[in-house]
Amino acid sequence: MNHLLGIEDLSKTEIEELIDLAIALKAERASGHVQQPLAGQTWGMIFTKSSTRTRVSFEVGIHELGGRPMFLNANDIQLGRGEPIKDTARVLGRMVHGCVIRTFDQQDVVDFADYGQIPTINALTDEEHPCQILADLQTIREKLGTWEGKKVVFYGDGDCNMGRSWAWAAKRLGFELVIAAPDEFQLKGDILDRLGDAPVTLTDDPVAAATGADVLYTDTWVSMGKEAEAEGRLKILAPFQINHDLVALANDGAIVQHCLPAYRDKELTEAVLEERATEIFDQAENRLHAQKAVLVKLAEAHRAA
Ligand code: CP
Ligand code: NVA
Repeated sequence: MNHLLGIEDLSKTEIEELIDLAIALKAERASGHVQQPLAGQTWGMIFTKSSTRTRVSFEVGIHELGGRPMFLNANDIQLGRGEPIKDTARVLGRMVHGCVIRTFDQQDVVDFADYGQIPTINALTDEEHPCQILADLQTIREKLGTWEGKKVVFYGDGDCNMGRSWAWAAKRLGFELVIAAPDEFQLKGDILDRLGDAPVTLTDDPVAAATGADVLYTDTWVSMGKEAEAEGRLKILAPFQINHDLVALANDGAIVQHCLPAYRDKELTEAVLEERATEIFDQAENRLHAQKAVLVKLAEAHRAA
């Protein structure tokens, strides 16, 4: 693994190794053990969109692994004034040891990796949010023991980055994924061909989807960049809210997950969020451990190359 651009690019083994390492790094951190494979390195972090969890977990993670994070708001560098991503990549590639990028267009992270020739991590694009999925899979392992044989239901905008990354996780790992979304916001386009026979079911029935679920997952109905569509989205997506009625249909021991930030009484109720706060914020904490695993693997691969 030379970059992390999407779950689509990972094999089953690569995902399993990352989750094993994330769990090991979490235990090491708790015991005070320190390993610093990024000692002497500087990692760039180019962000075109807002972030709390991703920014903080990468800054802390790079620091804990012995490296120095360099946060670059896209508007503060020449990229924001129109310098092409490929030129930005060719400059940073000569100065830093890796780069974490949050932006709109997936092609920008692909181009950065190609032109920069340094380990490149997709910290969210409109296409995928692989770092979040790795933390989510770690949380499922910790809370449910395994994802094998489990039913995960994604509620909301099925065609957003999270719905797409979940679909790739189901394809690579073989668990059952149901995407419950209205037709307007159902997974669509070329991805359906690429997913082929993945164990992914698309439905517009939120109630049927919840029956027998082990994980009820949601995300904001208004992803970054879609703010102009907010009013229509909130109306159309309203029947897909995670509330007590839906939770009651899920399996005993089912968990509720949210990538956050959460918008109360929109994609899930305040009551469900607060009752499930421990599992949701454990999930948020796992961003740190899962991303440290990615950083360690990429640094190892780059050293070996
Ligand atoms: N879940 C997530 O990526 O959160 P941030 O947007 O705060 O980074
Ligand atoms: N789908 C959301 C995820 C936020 C972490 C967005 O892109 O805004």
